[in-house]
Amino acid sequence: MTIKEIFETMDYGPAPESASEALAWIASHGGRFGGFIDGSFSEPGETFPTKNPATGETLAEITQATQADVDRAVAAARKAQPGWAALGGHGRAKVLYAIARILQKQSRLFAVLETLDNGKPIRESRDIDIPLAQRHFYHHAGYAELMETQLPDRAPLGVCGQVIPWNFPLLMLAWKVAPALAMGNTVVLKPAEYTSLTALLFADLCRQAGVPKGVLNVVTGDGAVGEMVVRADVEKIAFTGSTAVGRIIREATAGTGKSLTLELGGKSPYIVFDDADMDSAVEGLVDAIWFNQGQVCCAGSRLLVQEGVANAFYRKLKSRMDRLRIGDPLDKAIDIGAVVDPVQLATITRLVDANTEGERYVAPCPIPATGSFYPPTLITGLSPAASLMQEEIFGPVLVATTFRTPAEAVELANNTRYGLAATVWTENINLALDVAPKLAAGVVWINGTNMFDAAAPFGGVRESGFGREGGWEGLAAYTKAGGKPGEALKPIPAFTGEGEATDPLDRTHKLYIGGKQARPDGGYSRAVWGPKGALLGHASLANRKDIRNAVEAANAAKSWGRTTGHARAQILYFLAENLSARSDEFARRIDGLTGSGGAQEVEHSLRTLFRWAAWADKVDGRAAGAPFRGVALAMREPVGTIGILCPDAFPLLGLVATMAPAIALGNRTVLVASEPFPLAATDFYQVLETSDVPGGVVNILTGSHKELAPTLAAHLDVDAVWSFSGQPLAPVIEAKSAGNLKRTWAETRSRDWTRADDRSFIDAATEVKSVWIPYGE
Ligand code: NAI
Repeated sequence: MTIKEIFETMDYGPAPESASEALAWIASHGGRFGGFIDGSFSEPGETFPTKNPATGETLAEITQATQADVDRAVAAARKAQPGWAALGGHGRAKVLYAIARILQKQSRLFAVLETLDNGKPIRESRDIDIPLAQRHFYHHAGYAELMETQLPDRAPLGVCGQVIPWNFPLLMLAWKVAPALAMGNTVVLKPAEYTSLTALLFADLCRQAGVPKGVLNVVTGDGAVGEMVVRADVEKIAFTGSTAVGRIIREATAGTGKSLTLELGGKSPYIVFDDADMDSAVEGLVDAIWFNQGQVCCAGSRLLVQEGVANAFYRKLKSRMDRLRIGDPLDKAIDIGAVVDPVQLATITRLVDANTEGERYVAPCPIPATGSFYPPTLITGLSPAASLMQEEIFGPVLVATTFRTPAEAVELANNTRYGLAATVWTENINLALDVAPKLAAGVVWINGTNMFDAAAPFGGVRESGFGREGGWEGLAAYTKAGGKPGEALKPIPAFTGEGEATDPLDRTHKLYIGGKQARPDGGYSRAVWGPKGALLGHASLANRKDIRNAVEAANAAKSWGRTTGHARAQILYFLAENLSARSDEFARRIDGLTGSGGAQEVEHSLRTLFRWAAWADKVDGRAAGAPFRGVALAMREPVGTIGILCPDAFPLLGLVATMAPAIALGNRTVLVASEPFPLAATDFYQVLETSDVPGGVVNILTGSHKELAPTLAAHLDVDAVWSFSGQPLAPVIEAKSAGNLKRTWAETRSRDWTRADDRSFIDAATEVKSVWIPYGE
């Protein structure tokens, strides 16, 4: 027999991992679990079975938490929070370190339990899920230690409600729990109903790690329990799951003041250029779409391959598919395990069977007769608009199409409502680094895929949600600015009067759209009076159409985001210079509008312009080292078009202090000026006109905040809305933003505009994109 023949006839022998330890742990709890509240397990209530999807057998009974359970968990977390925060960074670091150690010491127990409950191959839970969860706690023990010195101006939020999905049960727990605890918050966590066991084991072992009572609480059950957590009296909701539920949560939390992060679905492109290392790209695809049976939010589920190599690439891919092994997830020789539940299996089957386009290739591996298994599937020749090209399948199904040029690849890649991740394969680093910034995605992997690390921020843009998990950037979502909160914002009423015009020359204050002064569409304006009843002029009343025109102008100025920070700094300095030249005039205008303080307000406005000119070329992101051959560049990119409702007070400073950070960091703006005192903003048009600000980068409207806010918040081409208005606009802005899941910052407390809070603005004005590149040995 030749060696070749030996290789060809050799087959894998099954190498199953024993389930006995994991089953013994379940048995030690009587096979029935209540929630974990205030440091101990509560008595099981009404329960439902959690099953092994590979066999259909019931593993344990899990409690469907009641409202009273959730209330008790929240009360325990509330009571524990001040003590946990007061433990200090070092004290918390020790506890997080102990958690990491326990995850390490019990790693096999966690891996087996995860595989039993979720159906993922033991190779993955053993080599990926559990080690990444450990690393997350180690890394965040470090953030706890460093919080006081490195984030001295940040404070914990309080109690965090966290709702997680079933695809990476323990890893998603780690992503949520580690940063929350590190920053001094306490947690009420709801795992997904299919996969609660590792969260319960984690809670059980937290007692051994010295986590104080009430710091971590776990309530189990279905979406109804998720809803209870979302409605509970907590300061933050962190959610990972489907875009549909993310949207419901956005609406449910609107106006409640709860901080919110959403990590939602995706349909991530996997782009293969003709010069790629084809074997590596095929191997990468196995990890991109067949990892965890394709039940990965950032799965490379849309293959885009350059036309010239497409057929050869498909051939290689099919031959690799022919060798994939599907079966018992506890077998270490298995590539593809079970889909999480028969319900998910039915969803995948329905979506794929409804498709009539293209050609379907199904891996020929034998499928176990029982359990929820779906074969690796490739569908080629789909049109970009085909529903399988657009909809998240969340299963081991790859859809593919071809492109001719890099520009077309980018266009196809971005042709989706999602923006979670993207993968680029090419041996040409120039091409990869040219394409990476053009992809609408929160994560870009170059010549690699599905790489994660606690140091590298992860999260999406567009309908893939907002907020980042991991890295320094992820901590922002679990902290707030420290110090005393401002007063609750209230509308400042406009002055009224009956007097005559102070200026005999009747100046009409128009709107400022696309670099030009424009009459309001509706043809209405209102009289603006001074504090003593003098008529100062008329301000236009903008309507929905004016908003639409301004957004269109802003989107036509997209190239602003591609200018250099240096160029933007020059323009901000120039704005300051031109404002300075007219400072007396602006000071008089402000005194006329509000009664006093004009000179100081102009001075602060000048400083603010300088400060953001200073930042414009310094918000560069950073490089995060990962403990393997790669580095993740955490690049800061502009958010896009930002709608801003300016504060009522400080007619000039309120405009400048919100506009300047946005444009300094490459965004376009649609600003609605102070409602009671609009005329300083209208005078500012001339400063803009003389300062080389490209048309469309700054658009200014005047009018009713209450009327204009819903249009801005609902507009699908607006990427973020900020409000500092005195009107109570948070409920409407946050609810309307659910349409395209735009980012919102609806402030309900007054701020000291003379004090720098640069970090909040830098975070709000940028999206972090993690670009993973091979680096080092
Ligand atoms: P889901 O989004 O319904 O569930 C995720 C979590 O949210 C679970 O813990 C669930 O109990 C909870 N939940 C459900 N409804 C809720 C509500 N109204 N309020 C608060 N919490 C609620 O995801 P599901 O149904 O398990 O899967 C459906 C589809 O969602 C999948 O086919 C896949 O396309 C997508 N999905 C995406 C994930 C991602 O990581 N992006 C993860 C899981 C699912």
